[in-house]
Amino acid sequence: MKHPSLPTLSALLPLLRPATAIHANSVETPDSWSCDASRGIDISFTPAPEHHQILVSFPTIALTVTPPAHGYPGGASHVGCSALVGFVDFATQRRFAVANATWRADNGVDLPAGAELYRLTAKVEYRIERDMGTFPRKYPIVKDLSSAVLLDLDLDPKLGDQARQGKFEYFAENPNRVWSECKNGYEGNVTKMYFGLSGHTRKGGTSLPGWSMDLGLVWEDCYPPDDIGWGQAIINGWESCTYSNVNQTSRALLPDVFRKNRKN
Ligand SMILES: *[C@@H]1O[C@H](CO)[C@@H](O)[C@H](O)[C@H]1NC(C)=O
Ligand SMILES: *[C@@H]1O[C@H](CO)[C@@H](O)[C@H](O)[C@H]1NC(C)=O
Ligand SMILES: *[C@@H]1O[C@H](CO)[C@@H](O)[C@H](O)[C@H]1NC(C)=O
Repeated sequence: MKHPSLPTLSALLPLLRPATAIHANSVETPDSWSCDASRGIDISFTPAPEHHQILVSFPTIALTVTPPAHGYPGGASHVGCSALVGFVDFATQRRFAVANATWRADNGVDLPAGAELYRLTAKVEYRIERDMGTFPRKYPIVKDLSSAVLLDLDLDPKLGDQARQGKFEYFAENPNRVWSECKNGYEGNVTKMYFGLSGHTRKGGTSLPGWSMDLGLVWEDCYPPDDIGWGQAIINGWESCTYSNVNQTSRALLPDVFRKNRKN
């Protein structure tokens, strides 16, 4: 299901390089995937005003053959990385959904005949950490968390019939579009997006470092008050910090209390 009319990566790069209005401002690695995302992730939106695409690039990761271990024979290959990235400067009264994803091995793959690429995953989650505090600041600080999964693909591209070398890309539509939050201009709430990508083969195969996914976006105008209850999951009091001037300690409580759990 390779998309024939997709422009090549080198053709896209000039479009992706200019400064955009949406800036990533922090990176956290939420899990132990074998990559250093804080050093190796590069997120860019294509230029304003359209922002048709997010390019999520992991320049350091490569498809690597798993060595035998703990009775496991080894020989399969794996590539994967994920990161949670903070953003500032999203447009207000606009929201987006992910329409499609394209996985790319930017510097080429080497899949011998019989090396079967049987699984590709792509996940995007959008989350708002809401600071419900008031001014003057009172403790404890209580943060609510609202989140929604904008993309969750886990598919079998069924590639393994023939040897493949060089440029690799694979395209898929998102069958389940979910809108991002409708921004109202408050700056005190933190917007983060989780991006995860992985690829799995049987019987080996390698790539040079450098994997990425392009996410095609659709946008629409929206009216913020309609979106007060935005999110598939809303956790009240997700993080609650108490701070004492006297002994300079802070304490985070993470109660997993779901107030609402509803689908869009
Ligand atoms: C965060 O968002 C909530 C709900 O939209 C709003 O009531 C609150 O004022 C915002 N906090 C800040 C500091 O902007
Ligand atoms: C992906 O979705 C975007 C937004 O709808 C669209 O502009 C783009 O053409 C799609 N990409 C492909 C390869 O179909
Ligand atoms: C230090 O902070 C802890 C946690 O907030 C609090 O329970 C404790 O009473 C404080 N100790 C002093 C000496 O103030």
